[in-house]
Amino acid sequence: TPRVFSGIQPSGNLHLGNYLGALKRFAASQERGIESLFCMVDLHAVTVWQDPADLTRATRELAAGFIASGIDPDRSILFNQSQVPEHTQMAWVFNCIARMGWMQRMTQFKDKAGKNAQNASLGLFAYPALMAADILVYHATEVPVGEDQKQHLELTRDIAAKFNHDYGVNFFPETEPRIEGAATRVMSLRDGSKKMSKSDPSDMSRINLTDDAETIAKKIRKAKTDPEALPSEAEGLEARPEARNLVNIYAALADQSVDEVLRDMGGREFSAFKPALADLAVDQLSPITAEMSRLMQDVSEIDAILARGAERARAIAQPIVRQTYEIMGMVTS
Ligand code: TYM
Repeated sequence: TPRVFSGIQPSGNLHLGNYLGALKRFAASQERGIESLFCMVDLHAVTVWQDPADLTRATRELAAGFIASGIDPDRSILFNQSQVPEHTQMAWVFNCIARMGWMQRMTQFKDKAGKNAQNASLGLFAYPALMAADILVYHATEVPVGEDQKQHLELTRDIAAKFNHDYGVNFFPETEPRIEGAATRVMSLRDGSKKMSKSDPSDMSRINLTDDAETIAKKIRKAKTDPEALPSEAEGLEARPEARNLVNIYAALADQSVDEVLRDMGGREFSAFKPALADLAVDQLSPITAEMSRLMQDVSEIDAILARGAERARAIAQPIVRQTYEIMGMVTS
């Protein structure tokens, strides 16, 4: 049976990359009527230091972001990872399946650990095994994500295959990464070679889901571009990373293909394109921002949604952990 799983870290600002690469597509995925689980991965967030009060707030704000983006907590299962201990149980099993060499190849670990990898937490190293556990503890078959998660999803498939092979079973399914649409890799507004990220020190590099209309318009107005007009075909964007990024953002916001956007916008100068993009972004993001801040006024309701989501998630995960233990020969009585 098909099942969708995806997660987002509650570690600071939700930005346009998270929205277009993930949230907006989760909402579209929910409309397909396939059982879907969406998780605030707080256990992943604490692989690097998080101030406790900030983590609490970011988790609730992320839940508000999911709901404001169209995730219906009755139809989809919305929860935070730490309330479902089966994630951690499965992660331990996968720590024993994954090989050190596999983990050492993970580019996200290398990026995040930096030069001083000896000083990174053990959790940061094991991060992708927990991620595989998130997915496989539900036997999820589809995972919508942005491009930057591709390597982790390949590792998830490797872990599933090695478990199945080592124990001679066909227990864990092959998960399909869903990396689709025009905005699978939204880039920084200041540098077309860097992805938009919550950890970029420049706030001008990203559009946050909490930015007001004026801030969004200003960031787009000041976004780095080149002096040429827009081309009329996608090939014309190949050597123009900043221009390509803005067109990709436009396409994803408007639910159009890049070719469709360029059919309308080709030949326009950035002085004309940027205001159109800003209007579109404000139109789409403002209602989400407003709904997030409305939801944040009653955190008890958010907490109740997460508690109920966790219960529903556990009902799926518990028997899968139990079967995993039985396959491995644990006495489960
Ligand atoms: P995270 O929290 O960094 O990002 C959440 C989602 O947003 C996508 N994303 C982007 N998409 C396009 N352009 C960008 N600039 C951009 N930045 C972020 C990410 O690809 C992701 O889909 N390891 C994951 C969280 C995770 C997870 C999982 C995901 C934990 N367990 C299981 C899927 C399944 C992460 O750190 O995402």
